[in-house]
Amino acid sequence: MPDRPRVFVTRNLPGDALNLLRQTCEVAVWPGQLPPSPDDLRREAAAAHGLLTLLTDRIDAALLAAAPKLVAVSNMATGYDNVDVAEASRRLVLLSRTPGVLTETSADLAFGLLLAAARRIAEGDRYVRAGNWRTWGPEIMLGPDVHGATLGIIGLGRIGAAVARRAAGFGMRILYHGRSRQPQAEKDLGAAYADLDTLLAQSDFVTIHAALTEDTRGLIGARQLALMKPSAILINTARGSLVDQDALYEALRSGAIAGAALDVTDPEPLPADSPLLALDNVVITPHIASASFATRSEMARLAAENLLASLAGDVNDNVVNPEIAGDWRSRISGGLQ
Ligand code: DGY
Repeated sequence: MPDRPRVFVTRNLPGDALNLLRQTCEVAVWPGQLPPSPDDLRREAAAAHGLLTLLTDRIDAALLAAAPKLVAVSNMATGYDNVDVAEASRRLVLLSRTPGVLTETSADLAFGLLLAAARRIAEGDRYVRAGNWRTWGPEIMLGPDVHGATLGIIGLGRIGAAVARRAAGFGMRILYHGRSRQPQAEKDLGAAYADLDTLLAQSDFVTIHAALTEDTRGLIGARQLALMKPSAILINTARGSLVDQDALYEALRSGAIAGAALDVTDPEPLPADSPLLALDNVVITPHIASASFATRSEMARLAAENLLASLAGDVNDNVVNPEIAGDWRSRISGGLQ
């Protein structure tokens, strides 16, 4: 049994997360600015007991098969669609994530994107830089009001609820849709439950905060976009694949909806020749919803703590597959190999 568990971290991290890991583990850190390739990741994972991964790392069956000593993966994200959870569970690898610490920061960006798309902030900036600002004009750069409008929230989890709190400050009417009704949130946030079609038809802004699963992939496609008002704006800060991007392009191009603001795309990064980039009525940011100094350090610290907890045999609340706890504990009871 090794004295100190071997851990591979797939990118340099902000804050004190790496020092925390180094106190008890042998830590290797991928030195690149870009993620390790699948081959690099397999090679580095081969001798690792723990991995600290990002949403850019695919933890799939091939990777897991190449990592016989691996007992824990700690994903520095609240989402974990980059991990084949069923295969990790089958191989008795515990998976954890970092919910909670990024809620408010992510909601800030979602609401910022809503404002940017409605009030044409990025477009206005391009307009000024291009030298097109020749006068103040009564009809220049008009957009819809945000205050008093109806906001439809798909997925009233932590981040969706934090967006609702911001919307309340703007006097917005709030509709939500999710897997289940949330009577307490309805009271606290003044949100009304609606089925998805009703939410899409009645909202001036629709913001997506659902997890990406096989059930939610393509949740917003051509039929759903057609239900939206021609004046409506779609905001997606969750995962790109929740939206059918070709259908979205067509809806934006044809004027079926007025605009979109995307922090996530499919694929990421968005290719430079994506037709979306030729449209003025879409604002796109590079998956930065959680990117504040404080929040990224908190995410890294929590991911390190989750990994240390797992390597110490602890199954904490951030574990995604706690159902394997019994068999997993038996696997590690003789010590790490
Ligand atoms: C997450 O945590 O899932 C975000 O997409 C990255 O902050």
